[in-house]
Amino acid sequence: MVCLGNICRSPLADGLLRDKAKKEGLNLKVDSAGTIGIHAGDSPDSRMQATALKFGTDLSQLRSRQFKVNDFQDFDLIYAMDKSNYQNILSLAKTEIERAKVRLILNELTPGKDMEVPDPYYGGEQGFIDVYNMLDQATDKIISKLKDDE
Ligand code: 4NP
Repeated sequence: MVCLGNICRSPLADGLLRDKAKKEGLNLKVDSAGTIGIHAGDSPDSRMQATALKFGTDLSQLRSRQFKVNDFQDFDLIYAMDKSNYQNILSLAKTEIERAKVRLILNELTPGKDMEVPDPYYGGEQGFIDVYNMLDQATDKIISKLKDDE
């Protein structure tokens, strides 16, 4: 799961997918990263943590890190939150196999529409709730697809 700072959107996507995979007994390696490293080592944004906890997901153990080219080897699927993250990740890919791993996460819900998870960082509380609802649905869809593939 990749966003810009890895303190708001992608940690939530990471936490939701981790919890759901565990609940469903799916053996998934889930992680998140930011395309920039300025928050590396930081906990998720306190507003994102509070919203996630309100709905039952604890993000407190997660720490921000920057996306690295080795992630193309370490993961089968790389989900970007918005088009800018998507382009930034693609620009680091070296092969067609690596490029094919990168997806816009909301295309899981609305295929081909290229919708974006908006950055809630500079907005109010509702923005965090909206992000929660989008990523809760998107991670449900990812889990159900992976279960079908089993
Ligand atoms: P995120 O939100 O990409 O969802 O983690 C942001 C958090 C911090 C910054 C940008 C986006 N920032 O520039 O500090």
